[in-house]
Amino acid sequence: MDIKFSGSAVPKSGNLVLTVAAGAKLGSLGVEIDSQTDGQLKRAIAAAEFEAKRDSMLELIAPVGLKVDRLLLVGLGKPEDLGAYDLEKTGGAIAGRIGAASGRVALAVDDHEGFEMGGGRAAALLASGVKLRTYRFDKYKTKKKDEDKRLKALSVLTKSAAAARKAFAPLSGIADGVHLARDLVNEPANVLYPVEFAKRAKQLSKLGVKVEVLTEKDMEKLKMDALLGVGQGSVRDSRMVVMHWMGGKKGETPVAFIGKGVTFDTGGISLKPGAGMGDMKGDMGGAACVTGLMHALAARKAKANVIGIIGLAENMPDAAAQRPGDIVNSMSGQTIEILNTDAEGRLLLADVLWYAQDRFKPKFMVNLATLTGAILVALGKEYAGIFSNNDELAQRLTVSGEATGELVWRMPLSPAYDKMIDTPNADVKNVGGRYAGASTAAQFLQRFVNDVPWTHIDVAGTAMDSPKNEISQGWASGYGVRLLNHLVAEHYEG
Ligand code: BES
Ligand code: MN
Ligand code: ZN
Repeated sequence: MDIKFSGSAVPKSGNLVLTVAAGAKLGSLGVEIDSQTDGQLKRAIAAAEFEAKRDSMLELIAPVGLKVDRLLLVGLGKPEDLGAYDLEKTGGAIAGRIGAASGRVALAVDDHEGFEMGGGRAAALLASGVKLRTYRFDKYKTKKKDEDKRLKALSVLTKSAAAARKAFAPLSGIADGVHLARDLVNEPANVLYPVEFAKRAKQLSKLGVKVEVLTEKDMEKLKMDALLGVGQGSVRDSRMVVMHWMGGKKGETPVAFIGKGVTFDTGGISLKPGAGMGDMKGDMGGAACVTGLMHALAARKAKANVIGIIGLAENMPDAAAQRPGDIVNSMSGQTIEILNTDAEGRLLLADVLWYAQDRFKPKFMVNLATLTGAILVALGKEYAGIFSNNDELAQRLTVSGEATGELVWRMPLSPAYDKMIDTPNADVKNVGGRYAGASTAAQFLQRFVNDVPWTHIDVAGTAMDSPKNEISQGWASGYGVRLLNHLVAEHYEG
């Protein structure tokens, strides 16, 4: 989508969207338009009792005195009340309302009093919302592309065009990261298998990210038997990808983000039921988020040292697949009894988490994983569950969640859950019984983090099959990119 910023003159054709502040307060462009229409604007506002409440809209077709075909008034509510995410949502709502308008579309962000962030930043955030909303995944449609139904170009009109352009650049990079994560989650598993995923991650090197790809041989040397076991029934080779973005001070300890990348999860020998199994192409939502995040951070040249690590494998039933009852080693040296091959994400993460803390000694680790159906039962699709050994990190994530709309809710870890994953046959088993499934999975992961401040985000409910909202309309939301970008920006830069 092509977004341009310029000064605020009344356009001569197409569609004009104009912001209006609470109480139907017009900015100076609104006043000018009202005079060009010989008062028709104010008359329509009065007749429709349009109060310009947040996201209320009023449409005037072919307004007399103007050359535009359509004038869409968009209520902002009180400009001083608007947070960043509010403006993005309004931008998204505008894009949704406009659809694939024929003719050019201009969004005039008027110079309302009380734009705390300044008109330039407000315009940039509205544009960011438009960009996020207009994402489509239609590359496999050979006939009618959904492309046809969406906005393709937007010119944003504002008195602070230069400031807006400058503020939009990083937001645009973040949106590209969200779109990358969405693309990866949406891709079917016959296209996106571990080697192909690694190839796409490698493309981040164009942005200055250093990308290492570890093959099965490399991982054998590291004794990552838990990860390798997950992929051993698949004809697709497993991979681990390590991404480095070193935008911070030289030598400063990095933070680390880790993602579960099961490119397809059949359950393995503990085969899942058929209904809905297609959704398991999204079982790499954690890895997609980490990759999208690294894109976002690099694109906006974040002043932070960040490591992203994703474990990639396909979980298939096969003559060579691991069996329930198998006992495997892990890089940490702990042995794991596998009682259900469908609890594979924690096996893969056990080795990636251990590797991350062992090699990088990071300030903290955050892992994301579509780990359990139990988190969906507990929290549904609006909140991701977080499990943390560190109150400060959990609190920061909660605040970032509120700020970005990518909500998290803290769930318990406890030594009591450890008892549920003890087994007489090995150091730990990979399932904990019927109750507290999301917590026993998290407790399992905690055995592989070795005291580093850490949070596990269970995104099984939020990364895929997502509810539609102002800025996300597709199956894959790209959940987590904006959340973690915010966390880094607020606490680990400059
Ligand atoms: N990938 C699934 C979890 C999942 C479920 C993600 C629904 C997205 C939507 C995970 O690998 C899994 O199968 N978990 C099992 C664990 C159980 C066997 C202990 C589950 O949740 O049923
Ligand atoms: Mn599974
Ligand atoms: Zn899985």
